[in-house]
Amino acid sequence: MSAIESVLVENRVFPPPAAFTAQANVKPADFEAMKAKAERDHAGFWADLARENLIWSKPFTKSLDDSNAPFFKWFSDGELNASYNCLDRHLNTPVADKTAIIFEADGGDVTKVTYRDLYKRVCRFANGLKSLGYKKGDRAIIYLPMSIEAVVAMQACARIGMTHSVVFGGFSAKSLQERIVDVGATLVIAADEQMRGGKAIPLKPAVDEAYGMGGCDAVRHTIVYKRTGGNVAYGAKDIDWAKVEAGQADDCPAEMVNAEHPLFVLYTSGSTGKPKGVQHSTGGYLLHAMLTMKWTFDIKPNDVFWCTADVGWVTGHTYVTYGPLAVGATEIIFEGVPTFPNAGRFWDMIQKHKCTVFYTAPTAIRSLIKAADTTPDVAPGKYDLSSLRLLGSVGEPINPEAWMWYYKHIGSERCPIVDTFWQTETGGHMITPLPGVTPLVPGSCTQALPGIAAAIVDETANDVPNGSGGILVIKKPWPSMIRTIWGDPERFKKSYFPDELKGYYLAGDGAVRDAVHGNFRITGRIDDVLNVSGHRLGTMEIESALVANPLVAEAAVVGRPDETTGEAVSAFVVLKGARPADKESAAKIAKELRDWVGKEIGPIAKPKDIRFGDNLPKTRSGKIMRRLLRAIAKGEEITQDVSTLENPAILEQLKQSL
Ligand code: PRX
Repeated sequence: MSAIESVLVENRVFPPPAAFTAQANVKPADFEAMKAKAERDHAGFWADLARENLIWSKPFTKSLDDSNAPFFKWFSDGELNASYNCLDRHLNTPVADKTAIIFEADGGDVTKVTYRDLYKRVCRFANGLKSLGYKKGDRAIIYLPMSIEAVVAMQACARIGMTHSVVFGGFSAKSLQERIVDVGATLVIAADEQMRGGKAIPLKPAVDEAYGMGGCDAVRHTIVYKRTGGNVAYGAKDIDWAKVEAGQADDCPAEMVNAEHPLFVLYTSGSTGKPKGVQHSTGGYLLHAMLTMKWTFDIKPNDVFWCTADVGWVTGHTYVTYGPLAVGATEIIFEGVPTFPNAGRFWDMIQKHKCTVFYTAPTAIRSLIKAADTTPDVAPGKYDLSSLRLLGSVGEPINPEAWMWYYKHIGSERCPIVDTFWQTETGGHMITPLPGVTPLVPGSCTQALPGIAAAIVDETANDVPNGSGGILVIKKPWPSMIRTIWGDPERFKKSYFPDELKGYYLAGDGAVRDAVHGNFRITGRIDDVLNVSGHRLGTMEIESALVANPLVAEAAVVGRPDETTGEAVSAFVVLKGARPADKESAAKIAKELRDWVGKEIGPIAKPKDIRFGDNLPKTRSGKIMRRLLRAIAKGEEITQDVSTLENPAILEQLKQSL
């Protein structure tokens, strides 16, 4: 199926509309010139852009410092502040009185803030943090729903030089506790509850539960934003958000920091059980956020930009909190879910707020395609989407069918779609069409940005020819790249710069370039990382969670394709006691284990399928044969060689046991 699809795809090419190109920030000739300049002088290319785009309190003299590779530094004798570059820079310009954020709450209430208002709110909160004794170098955990407050909290941290680490509201108390401990947080900023789909979901109780698990004694305060005013317990550490701001001045001079100062640490899944704290810089990161707003999103003063990602993910950092503000755009922030009060919510909001540039995930598109069939009265055709001029996709491969639907039904065959490939570690877009330049191919993220040396190589770092698959690498450092894994430089080196790749950055994805245009297509992760609804999950993390349950002796987790979520989690479990005797008891234990994983990691990690066996398929040396488990999970006939298997009969048992 996918092989046939990719053959078909190559015949469908959509050149940029002439009218789009005519007004684009980057035109074909600019693109060629930028690429040529980056080829000629990689460090100089980025240095010129950093001087043109960022405001430096102390200009840098060095562009790239590769003296301690792979711990690269950029602009490292320069100083600046990220919040200054998002807010103060606009104060004496017409942008000051422009709407910065249009916030739409779950229930539909709309709040707007101008750049000047936002500046004041950030300053008051930053002053409040200072008066509580927080300062440059301290770390704050942020556990907030999508809100203006989330942006204020992140910007206020940046303003005083605190490093923030946002934890997605869907993560459990246990995940929260691990991050508090690992990052060494002294402050937690949380909401009492969040509103999603008309329901209040508690957040603050998870913070208290996390504290109860131990290791969090360094935390001095929990600042609580009362989103609902719901009935949650308050203790001695807790301070009301309103109290933190009260009486504080509207100005707070930004603390200038070194370009390499860690703006944030964001945890993501890797191939071991422990999430990695991806550490980003201030200067290089912000530069890429700004450039890609201009290049990929072609942002203009009158645009209304909407990135639907949660601030708990990197997309919400770069394209909600930092990028749009740094370029002075108006952006929409949405608290709720795309299916509440009905599946027309996105389309209704695009119509109402006259959104021009819309950026979302394939999983949302796929679920809305289904909904358009089942609830035709709220299908996109019922709304006026004519304000749109550009669409974007992120987080996972977009299948050509979903791409075509997005193109026809949302973009009316007028709007280019930028399928942006990037990662938590890359800070911003890496491989993506530029809307005024690149002919679009459904399912392909097309070409690397200027200055991004993306390539496909084999296991020993040799280039593979177009048309053959291989390992995606970035051959040269770039400003917004991950600096290290917080507290674990060895793991950083091993994960991203393994010896056999000769200094290239290893993305962890497989990819192929087509023979005609050299367009990239991402074929999926090559490590034990799954992508469920655009969320990154480590199979090892889920396995560790399962075996931590007292009922479980052994567990193996693999991914299988899923129509809506892209991939789904499929678990194989050996219980300590006997295998469940009948369907009812199997279903009961499976539910118990799903809820357990929900509590250990978060609901997004719950296995969709759980199969019970007396054992797992293992080689004689005891290694679990995951490729067989993948075949069973997909419901495929096992055609592979099973002669090395210790216990072949187990395969049939596992097949039957769903
Ligand atoms: O496998 C790739 C997939 O998502 C991974 C990165 O996940 P995360 O760090 O959570 O960041 C997601 C948001 C940037 C990648 O290694 N991925 C991301 N974008 C695409 C993609 N796969 C195919 N096409 C994309 N456009």
